[in-house]
Parts: sequence; C-alpha cells; structure tokens
Amino acid sequence: MPLSQQHLLGIKNITAEDIQLIFTTADNFKEVINRPIKKVPSLRDITIANVFFENSTRTRLSFELAEKRLSADVINFSAASSSVKKGETLLDTVNNILAMKVDMVVMRHASPGAPHFLARHIRANIVNAGDGTHEHPTQALLDTFSIREKLGGVAGKKVAIIGDIMHSRVAISNIFALQKLGAEVMVCGPITLLPKYIGALGVKVELDVQKALAWCDVANVLRIQLERQQIKYFPSLREYALYYGINRERLNRLDKEITIMHPGPINRGVELNSDVADSEHAIILDQVENGVAIRMAILYLLANAAA
Ligand code: CP
Repeated sequence: MPLSQQHLLGIKNITAEDIQLIFTTADNFKEVINRPIKKVPSLRDITIANVFFENSTRTRLSFELAEKRLSADVINFSAASSSVKKGETLLDTVNNILAMKVDMVVMRHASPGAPHFLARHIRANIVNAGDGTHEHPTQALLDTFSIREKLGGVAGKKVAIIGDIMHSRVAISNIFALQKLGAEVMVCGPITLLPKYIGALGVKVELDVQKALAWCDVANVLRIQLERQQIKYFPSLREYALYYGINRERLNRLDKEITIMHPGPINRGVELNSDVADSEHAIILDQVENGVAIRMAILYLLANAAA
C-alpha cells in the first residue's frame, strides 16, 4: 500500500493510515538498524540531497544516516557555506542540485511554506525537515512512534506539550499527529507563548504546569526558542525556569509516573533540569534512535510512491 502523498510537507495533509503505514515500516527498519549489519539495498539507485538553510544536529545527521542505511547516494548542502551567500535564489539553488540528477530533497528552511513552494516547482520528492514556525513532520512522527513504543499505543493517551508553543513547529506537527492517532492534547506555557489560534486546534489550554503534569501521561517539553523571539515574552530565563521548568521536585509531587520527552536541543536548567532529562522518566535518546527508523521508512515509502 503506498503513501497518499508524493511529498512529506506536513502532518496536516497526511492521513492516519499514512502514519500507521510509516510506523509499521519503521518497525521493520528499527529491527534492521539493531542488526550487526545495519544496511539494506532498498534505495541503491536513489540520490538524495539534504538541503539545510538552518542549523541542525539531530535531524540532519538522522536523515543522512537513514539514507546511508538504505544505500542511497547522499549529498549535503549547507546554506552557510554555499552560493546562497552570493545571492542565489532558493529555486535556482535547488534546480542546480537537481541538474546533477537528484531524486529527493530533504529541506530545512527558516521560511514557513518553503518546501511547499519547491514541491510546486520541481519534480523530485520533497521532505520537510522543518520550515520556520510551521511544521516539523518527521519530528512529530518519531515522537508519536516513541509514545506508541513506550505506552503500547497512542489512542486515548493524554499528551501535554509544554513550553514555547508560539514559535514551535514541533508543537503544531505533534498536535496534528496526536489527534489523527486519537490522543488527547493539552498545551501549557506562559500566556504570552501560546498563540491566539491555539484553542481552534481542539487542544486543552493550561497555564499551570503542575496541573498539566497531573493531567498527562506524557509531557513533551519544548525548548525556549530565543533565536525566534524578537521581543521579550517573559521577564527572564530564571523566572521561566521557576514557573515552567520541569524538575524532579515537580515530578515527585505527582501520584503517578509520567513519560518525559524533548525534541532537542535542550536548554538544561531552563525548560528541563538534568535530574529529569537524564532520569528513567525520560525517553529523549529513544526519540533520537527512533528518528533514524522513522526517516528510513519515510524515504523508502516516498521512493516507492514515486516509482
Ligand atoms: N529536534 C530537532 O529538530 O533538532 P535539530 O534542530 O538539532 O535538528
């Protein structure tokens, strides 16, 4: 059964069936990457360009590893060391890369909608690796896959997304993915970091982090994205940590165990303390491991959708 889309631009435009197909394919690839020989020849004839206009550690390395595990040929482009610095446009840049016979483009860009623009103008499959404050679909897929793995399923689970919702593409993609899979979603943060439209997405809204923790099965803690904040949304990082930081003392006040997630990179001591990030409650490195299997599944399914 193929995916319903030729591109992965966001979670909003894929189906619950697409997500389940990605999960069952990722189950197989997770088994592969835990074998002594971690490579399969599935994408031997495919060339993939990783085109990153914004910084990344996890997403970029995870895509590159996924591509190599599938035996694809891989080229990497970083805007900081490219002719973009000489004024070349996005479309010219990508068309030049495609002239080298590239089949798929994985792109991260600071502008919301940049991968959608590319998908309208070029013939390759496009994977959105994060477009500004809009969507980060592969992060949401690896997050929900990790919840499924840890809790045995996603339907009926209560997930609180805590932190800088306003500037977070991870929050938006997670909300869409969790709702498509039947989870209940709450967002929690200072009122200044909750966008006005958030209630229209059908999520619960909570300003008190202790109440959010008491409600949820899973807390997905998000980074304060200072690089996207043009004005001050709260008085200081110290005050944010005091009112919204997740630490052991907050978890000790609960009468149950909850699972802690974070997409990374973590601002330790701000949104998440080390006594939680490195504890048995956290599945942060499982998320990273699952990211490789999820990205292998997406690339494999898109390559077959295009065939
Ligand atoms: N989670 C995530 O997107 O991390 P990077 O920015 O390091 O890729």
